[in-house]
Amino acid sequence: QIIVLDYGSQYNQLITRRIREFGIYSELKPHTISAAEVREIAPKGIIFSGGPNSVYDEGALGVDSELFELGIPILGVCYGMQLMAKKLAGGRVESADNREYGHVDIQVNEDTNPILFKNLPEKQFVWMSHGDLVRQAPDGFTVTATSKNCPIAAIADDKRKFYGIQFHAEVQNTEYGHEILRHFAFDVCHAEANWSMSDFIDDQIKAIRAEVGDKKVLLGLSGGVDSSVVAALLNKAIGDQLVCIFVDHGLLRKNEADQVMDSLGKGLGVNIIKVDAHERFYADLKGVTDPEKKRKTIGRDFIEVFNEEASKLHGIDYLAQGTLYTDVVESGTDTAQTIKSHHNVGGLPEDLKFKLIEPLNKLFKDEARELGEKLGIPHELVWRQPFPGPGLGIRVLGEVTEEKLAIVRDSDAILREEIKKNGLDESIWQYFTVLPGFKSVGVMGDGRTYDYTIAIRAITSIDGMTADFARIDWDVLQKISARIVNEVGHINRVVYDITSKPPATVEWE
Ligand code: XMP
Repeated sequence: QIIVLDYGSQYNQLITRRIREFGIYSELKPHTISAAEVREIAPKGIIFSGGPNSVYDEGALGVDSELFELGIPILGVCYGMQLMAKKLAGGRVESADNREYGHVDIQVNEDTNPILFKNLPEKQFVWMSHGDLVRQAPDGFTVTATSKNCPIAAIADDKRKFYGIQFHAEVQNTEYGHEILRHFAFDVCHAEANWSMSDFIDDQIKAIRAEVGDKKVLLGLSGGVDSSVVAALLNKAIGDQLVCIFVDHGLLRKNEADQVMDSLGKGLGVNIIKVDAHERFYADLKGVTDPEKKRKTIGRDFIEVFNEEASKLHGIDYLAQGTLYTDVVESGTDTAQTIKSHHNVGGLPEDLKFKLIEPLNKLFKDEARELGEKLGIPHELVWRQPFPGPGLGIRVLGEVTEEKLAIVRDSDAILREEIKKNGLDESIWQYFTVLPGFKSVGVMGDGRTYDYTIAIRAITSIDGMTADFARIDWDVLQKISARIVNEVGHINRVVYDITSKPPATVEWE
């Protein structure tokens, strides 16, 4: 494997992800890791990530100097390169006269025969984001690339196999970023591409069986991707020792509950107790109009229903959760990593005295999806768009009623059908309908109508943190609009949400 030391850059997980895409296992490690611990792991290479600070800041994040004595190749990225320059003899880092941010052209010094830039054009654009720069490369290094404001944009010491790049090779905005990381991984570290999802499944199954033995495991199935994948994996490892509780809160999309039961229950033979609790949720949501109160009500009911069912079961020792790697690793801290535990079933109370199993906690979301597919969950289910825990409850604005839920559910089903029919389902990140709840005047036949408006929300995004509205073809929108008005009762107007995030959020509540 190749390890990535965490200096707090927002991109550091991306480095790990890129290395894994090459088929090489990679993990993010705290920057405080000692040389002895690294020796124990015996990685083929080490990458120092970028970071938001200056190497001269008080309390700047450092590195165990003995790491440089292990004979393991090191690549420093941005802050990581500056840290190398500061730590190794002869290097000097200064604050830059001109802060560089964004696309920058670099010139590769081909004369230096730079291994990281092998077979790549002399001129290429990269993504820079730095206030400091390396003014003097440490002894033994040559400068392998320069930019206008950064004369030392990349450095190399082929003898010790130490490399530095001032730019972020891990982001899409760096033209040959993948190739540069590839060269480090394969040509410098000589790592082997031997990490695959099939191996992961085999290893996990062995580990789960060893841990659980003949004990029983409980899993809260939400209908979402993560818990479905955990269910499939545990089912393969321990079969009926796994008991899933699927709380149907009546706020799922059209046919979604049946789809989960069919593919996981009937299809894969997962042991599922389905609890139809929609009446309780609807009753408790009566009169609740505040979005946060709605979320709390739904979350609380979910836990209560789950607990009631769980308490009917006996001899359960373990609780499984679909926590992902991104949930576990929280970067950007001054000291060691902060670990946060996500509760995918809405925050289970402490007094449930189970031992926790989180078999996905080393995987990124799309790796979890790939795993799900390998385990036999249908492609469509595994690659579903994100869906919030409170479900359609936050897409009926204001008070949730059964009539309004039906309108949202039916219009959402039409939207999804048309998006898929037009081949847009893989390019639009999230798409759904919202019922704002007001009425307006329309005309149908010769008569005046006074009915609800439906809003369509469709966005492109990488992670949901920021988003842009999707540029859907007018003709497709027209078809969707016509179908919603004709097929769903009580709608006489359809509008398209053309705000990005920020300033709007993805959901309306
Ligand atoms: P916002 O509306 O915050 O949404 O821009 C960003 C992403 O998060 C989802 N979302 C939620 N997911 N519980 C969830 O599990 C929630 O309460 C919740 N609210 C928003 C939203 O669908 C989008 O993908």
